Amino acid sequence: MRKIFVTLLLLITVFLFQFCSSSKKVAAPIVNYQTNIQPIIQSSCAPCHIAGKGNKKSLDNYLAARDNVEDILVRIQKIPTDRGFMPMMHEKLSEKDIAAFTEWKKAGLLEH
Ligand code: HEC
Repeated sequence: MRKIFVTLLLLITVFLFQFCSSSKKVAAPIVNYQTNIQPIIQSSCAPCHIAGKGNKKSLDNYLAARDNVEDILVRIQKIPTDRGFMPMMHEKLSEKDIAAFTEWKKAGLLEH
């Protein structure tokens, strides 16, 4: 019984201390191609836009993704029944994935 109490107290203390670290707050990492964008393209735009696999413009490299960002942004924000919607014949990207593209552009289209 006592052990449980001590463990609980310890957990609560640890929990509370989490709120005391404001001085060490880490800034949210800046969105970049390698970490945030490439994985989305690899999973959601395949195989059509993957070099060597699809017959559409390859978007699976930094320069292509960067140079086509305006077109990509327009298309992923369309509704699936709209003409030109991407990813074609798939569900709309999640809000999080769409936000990754908008944030990427805002942050200056960094590669890594
Ligand atoms: C099932 C295949 C398929 C998938 C998956 C797909 N596309 Fe496409 N995409 C196409 C086709 C076909 C076209 C050409 C027709 C058009 O322009 O609407 C195209 C055209 C485009 C274009 C215009 C440039 C071009 O290649 O002509 C962009 C930009 C684009 N897609 C972005 C994307 C993005 C971003 C994704 C993933 C989120 C994606 N697509 C997923 C088939 C696909």
